[in-house]
Amino acid sequence: MCGVIGYVGSKPCARLIFDGLKRLEYRGYDSAGIAVLDHGKIDLVKAEGKLVHLEPRLVELPGGATMGMGHTRWATHGAPTARNAHPHLHGDLVIIHNGIIENYRELKEQLIKSGVEFKSDTDTEVVLHQLHADLDRKGDLKTAIMETVKHLRGAYAIGIIHARDPGKIYVVKQGSPVVLGAGNGENFFGSDALALLPHTNRAVFLMDGEFACLTADSIDVWDFSGKPVRRDPQVLNWSAASADKQGFKHYMLKEIHEQPAVMSSMLSRLVDLKSNSFVDKETGIDALDLGRVKNVAIVACGTAHYAGQIGRYMIEEFVRLPANVELASEFRYRNPCIDSSTLLIAVSQSGETADTLACVKHASERGCQVMSVCNVRFSSIPRASDAVLYMEAGPEVGVASTKAFTAMVLSFYILSLAIGEKMGRMGPQAHARLEKSFDAMRRLPSLVDRAVNAAGVIEEISHKIYESQNMLFIGRGASFPVATEGALKLKEISYIHAEGYAGGELKHGPIALVDRHMPVVSIAPRDSQYEKMISNIEEVCARQGRIIGVGDLEDDRFRSICEHYIPCPQVDDDHLQAILSVIPLQLLAYYAADMRGTDVDQPRNLAKSVTVE
Ligand code: AGP
Repeated sequence: MCGVIGYVGSKPCARLIFDGLKRLEYRGYDSAGIAVLDHGKIDLVKAEGKLVHLEPRLVELPGGATMGMGHTRWATHGAPTARNAHPHLHGDLVIIHNGIIENYRELKEQLIKSGVEFKSDTDTEVVLHQLHADLDRKGDLKTAIMETVKHLRGAYAIGIIHARDPGKIYVVKQGSPVVLGAGNGENFFGSDALALLPHTNRAVFLMDGEFACLTADSIDVWDFSGKPVRRDPQVLNWSAASADKQGFKHYMLKEIHEQPAVMSSMLSRLVDLKSNSFVDKETGIDALDLGRVKNVAIVACGTAHYAGQIGRYMIEEFVRLPANVELASEFRYRNPCIDSSTLLIAVSQSGETADTLACVKHASERGCQVMSVCNVRFSSIPRASDAVLYMEAGPEVGVASTKAFTAMVLSFYILSLAIGEKMGRMGPQAHARLEKSFDAMRRLPSLVDRAVNAAGVIEEISHKIYESQNMLFIGRGASFPVATEGALKLKEISYIHAEGYAGGELKHGPIALVDRHMPVVSIAPRDSQYEKMISNIEEVCARQGRIIGVGDLEDDRFRSICEHYIPCPQVDDDHLQAILSVIPLQLLAYYAADMRGTDVDQPRNLAKSVTVE
């Protein structure tokens, strides 16, 4: 999705804004531009493609400019060309925009009838001309903004600079993410806090329906009716260092290797391993009325959805209530049977995924209790929830989600146990089950560390498969969503077509795909479905399928039927095992993509946070 960043202060800002755009690259984009205001004149440069094409043009901007804004565009309306790139300028007004104006066509027709000539195919330019017309009518920009937003339907985060209003940048928020950065003698805005971290970790979060005016020394916030709103800066516990590659070739590889530490830090915050208890204010369950919960609906997209699939197994085992897992993009359109007895769990690394956020609002309107599992504090989904479990996995920059997935699975494990215990629904063996679970959690970080450091054998296997055109991933029980997640990792960064299937489903059709050219990644830990999974794998072997096994180091029987074998640590817990089994698949996808020379951290067509529906 698009990235926005802006600065007003006393420093030369062209390069500062460009560097901020670099930190937003992971969001995905296909053109970029920067506009600055200096001595009453707006200058701007834009370029198609990556920032490397924009950088040479920075010299065209006045070196003394101390206020401006930049944009990376992920094309929605209009091709990814310089002509459609932001910022968009008309007269002495320039804007940048992230989001979609859903009624832009009708507004555009009205503006054309009034004599406006459009230079681009974007919905953003409609906002620019509507604002310009309202400014002509109202005379001042603040009042004009309040008028313009009345016309707009859709999602937008907008930055506005007016040449005749120097020293001020206006920021408008409705449905798209934008955060303000409070500095000393300088202020910022950006699509997320990551872009602001080198300058400040003091963030001001606008809510939907609010706009702000930034000067070098002040941040004023109003709602769309013009009523002042108090928004005090929040101190973020992320550092700029935590958002850098720290010597790794790619963010994705760094984030794969951060997983042991993430597991440790989550356990130290969410549970008490000495007393085998849960920290309710951190898990968020203290904010729920569990007495009225009779069913659970889990909504998410992509990797988060697969984590939710695993979470469902946990909830149904420990809480003994029906749990549905739904694609957020489908959920609210099927008129789901949810009500005040439903606990909706929204899972989102970014906390900004538009489809998931829309489900949260849909469920809240129907009286559901909403809990979110999220990695970014103060993002939109947690802010719209009744309760939140923050994963605190640190910034995840690689578009392909890795540490967030394992953090989500651990979050579900802890949540399910905590809710099951609190609701008294774990049955007569509750104490013994809790003891076993806490033992498994104590061992988890070191086992994850072993899994992450088995990269050598995986890199060798990647050499054997990276030129494949198609691959299958199969698993049973909690290993089935792991298989689908492994297939997604491979697809989205190496562009190899891959599908994840339930091991027992293969013979109902997909096994027709199997021949001696088809690598089949088969996940078979020593869990309750091991024997059946080995049978499914032998069905594949009987058709010359090329088995890449992921299983117990000591499992010679499984190893003997595999063309390649990846030993994976075992944690003796069917659910938590998913965290260990996915790591070889993350590494397999990573090495295959790197060997294919794709853009591992910013795969084609993808964005880190999908803030449009
Ligand atoms: C994961 O590798 C993908 N990049 C994508 O499927 C992602 O999981 C999905 O867009 C959901 O994002 P969220 O967790 O930020 O809501």
